[in-house]
Amino acid sequence: MFMIVFSSLLALSEAGVGSILQSDAQKNTPEDGRRNFSQLSREYGHECEEYDVTTEDGYILKLFHITGNEDSTPVLLMHGILDTADAFIIRGNISIAINLAEAGNDVWAWNVRGNIYSRRHETLSPDKDKHKFWDFSFHEMGTYDLPATIDFILEKTGKENLSAIGHSMGTSIAYILGSTRPEYNQKISVFISLAPIAYLTHVSPAVKATVKLWPAIKLFFQSLGYEEVLQNNSTATELIQFICTQGELSYDICWKGVASALAGDDPEEMEEQFFDVFIRHFPAGTSRKTFGHFVQIARTGRFAQYNYGAIKNRLVYKSADFPDYNLSNATMPIVLIAAKNDGFSGIKDVERLKGQLPNVVDYHVMEREQFNHLDFIYGRHLNVYMTPLLRDFLSKFS
Ligand SMILES: *[C@@H]1O[C@H](CO)[C@@H](O)[C@H](O)[C@H]1NC(C)=O
Ligand SMILES: *[C@@H]1O[C@H](CO)[C@@H](O)[C@H](O)[C@H]1NC(C)=O
Ligand SMILES: *[C@@H]1O[C@H](CO)[C@@H](O)[C@H](O)[C@H]1NC(C)=O
Ligand SMILES: *[C@@H]1O[C@H](CO)[C@@H](O)[C@H](O)[C@H]1NC(C)=O
Ligand SMILES: *[C@@H]1O[C@H](CO)[C@@H](O)[C@H](O)[C@H]1NC(C)=O
Ligand SMILES: *[C@@H]1O[C@H](CO)[C@@H](O)[C@H](O)[C@H]1NC(C)=O
Ligand SMILES: *[C@@H]1O[C@H](CO)[C@@H](O)[C@H](O)[C@H]1NC(C)=O
Repeated sequence: MFMIVFSSLLALSEAGVGSILQSDAQKNTPEDGRRNFSQLSREYGHECEEYDVTTEDGYILKLFHITGNEDSTPVLLMHGILDTADAFIIRGNISIAINLAEAGNDVWAWNVRGNIYSRRHETLSPDKDKHKFWDFSFHEMGTYDLPATIDFILEKTGKENLSAIGHSMGTSIAYILGSTRPEYNQKISVFISLAPIAYLTHVSPAVKATVKLWPAIKLFFQSLGYEEVLQNNSTATELIQFICTQGELSYDICWKGVASALAGDDPEEMEEQFFDVFIRHFPAGTSRKTFGHFVQIARTGRFAQYNYGAIKNRLVYKSADFPDYNLSNATMPIVLIAAKNDGFSGIKDVERLKGQLPNVVDYHVMEREQFNHLDFIYGRHLNVYMTPLLRDFLSKFS
């Protein structure tokens, strides 16, 4: 029982949300639950290419490119934890990917190491070499995955820089890149942060409770030998997907009961029909260490590298303490967009971050009181409250 509740909690931690705006007709078919990014892109009118990007440390990442607007500055879309590039397109013709492509942006969407699209490595097998393959967190996504992806896109397009839009963990990754590999700051013309995460102090009670439970959860995973958690076709994920696709009751349990508690309650923005599509794309897997690293940030209140304990820290960092990320090195222009009802990215945490970043070019708090963590990318009225804002920031700064 504990496992079911916990899995559902995790599963829904990045799920969607609500507003009482005028409803724009929006098209979503149940088949969208089974379509991958390229198929969805074609379904909604845009050709799409797939690339493999190999990182310095051998991971092979799937990168999607919506073709047709190659003259403009590339925009890279960076999803959150347990998510994939699909996050930006499963809303179909009102999704961020499709709307930006229609507005003439050259859209790229990546997949971090370990998710269902990027579960590959030049020499390591995610199943046979699990201790090595899954030994990463968002630190490696920032220090290896992002630089490799930026270099690949700039090489392909012949451009000198790109803009990027990150959601949740996607923002942490960009701050880590800017802090640890400062030479990349100049390759990003603007980084738009949706639900910025560097601190996890002012979070919802449900997130606090999950952080408290983590030692038990971690032990549970460890005892089963799970280095990879909640991948697409794992037993836990199948269970979640089964429980969460039984119609109205499932919607009440999974969405209203679990996701809203974690992410913030906003019942208008994620309707049952869309939830059905969403839950077939999420959760898409990550490493146990990625969760561990976020829990560490929540507990210590420090945006810092992974803590291995004093003895191993000396080997890895040449100091018993684990180093903070030096945010003053992250000099890329950054737009911060926060929301008052976000269970993960609290306004006070975002303001603390804002005080430490040297080049915040705009700070915007979403007006609606109920706006939560998932409304940024999944809401039913995304094209009304989010895409125009993104387009404004992109044209102003890139
Ligand atoms: C999305 O598609 C639906 C159905 O085809 C259409 O009614 C609606 O106007 C479209 N919305 C946008 C924003 O393109
Ligand atoms: C997406 O689906 C298409 C059509 O089935 C397939 O050709 C393509 O390889 C798939 N892409 C990925 C990344 O799974
Ligand atoms: C970004 O690159 C373009 C050329 O690709 C250049 O014109 C522009 O000045 C660059 N912007 C920044 C902020 O470096
Ligand atoms: C910050 O940048 C300075 C100068 O570029 C560099 O010496 C330092 O190592 C950087 N800090 C980190 C944590 O990478
Ligand atoms: C998830 O796994 C199922 C069955 O294992 C497969 O049919 C589906 O295509 C997978 N989804 C993705 C996004 O790879
Ligand atoms: C998930 O699917 C992949 C590819 O189909 C397979 O190699 C792997 O063993 C599966 N994992 C589980 C837990 O079923
Ligand atoms: C952080 O980086 C800035 C700019 O490079 C530097 O002046 C400062 O000394 C660094 N702080 C630490 C604690 O390394």
